[in-house]
Amino acid sequence: MAETGQTVATIPAVLILLGPPGAGKGTQARLLEEDFGLVQLSTGDMLRAAVAGGTPAGLAAKAVMEAGGLVSDEIVLGVLRERMEGLAGGLILDGFPRTGAQARALDALLAGTGRRVDAAVSMEVDDDAMIARVAGRYSCAGCGEGYHDRFRKPAVAGQCDKCGGHEFRRRADDTAETARKRLQAYHDQTAPLIAHYAAQGVLKRVDAMASIEAVRGALAGIVRGLDGAALTPPAASAAERNHPEM
Ligand code: AP5
Repeated sequence: MAETGQTVATIPAVLILLGPPGAGKGTQARLLEEDFGLVQLSTGDMLRAAVAGGTPAGLAAKAVMEAGGLVSDEIVLGVLRERMEGLAGGLILDGFPRTGAQARALDALLAGTGRRVDAAVSMEVDDDAMIARVAGRYSCAGCGEGYHDRFRKPAVAGQCDKCGGHEFRRRADDTAETARKRLQAYHDQTAPLIAHYAAQGVLKRVDAMASIEAVRGALAGIVRGLDGAALTPPAASAAERNHPEM
């Protein structure tokens, strides 16, 4: 996909990945970073960092996350706002928004900087397959690169493809039982956002049961399609932002 990234690395789009646990949001967000130079914003990663750091937000979120529920809108919006400060380029929102209140807050936050959601991608999958995906998942302890016992093994066993690290970890909420609760939370509170973004005319659907590379290709097609009239006009091109003297 190197040539894809070179072609459209300047797109300042705001892309949302919607989908249940295991749909591949994190996997594809990292690939979109590589292919298009977009910045991944994962509220799950932000909350896990807060838990690991023992911050007030992390202390409040820990038990809810381990039980498979949704952390309060107030806490999630707090960590996201902090992370979004000063980010002017293209964004991939991975795991956010997850409630109607979060979607409305995001619209307001983006409007404040003259932007909007350019595409919300519903990653469509079968619930049963998601339990297997989540329960087999692990990541590099050094760089966070994601792997799976069956679907995505490192090229060299026991060694991270990206950073060469040899330590891996599994998430505390990646048990089959908690994954079922997270799936339920998705259907109850997040799936209704599909209608919200359909009404805004920015909804795209992707078959996320396909292979990782096939899903990557489908998302690349969507991002390339934003490189035109549908895209919020940027104040300056990425080249100009990177080289203000231009
Ligand atoms: P979060 O970290 O966002 O987890 P999630 O939404 O449950 O999603 P996952 O990370 O489990 O799955 P994914 O879709 O990223 O799949 P992945 O690419 O890893 O949130 C965790 C918790 O934080 C929540 O439960 C909640 O408590 C809290 N939280 C976070 N955001 C919140 C918010 N906005 N509001 C409130 N609370 C919030 O893929 C899974 C595995 O499958 C991997 O091993 C991968 O290699 C493999 N795989 C991926 N794609 C494919 C494919 N196409 N074929 C085969 N295997 C594949």
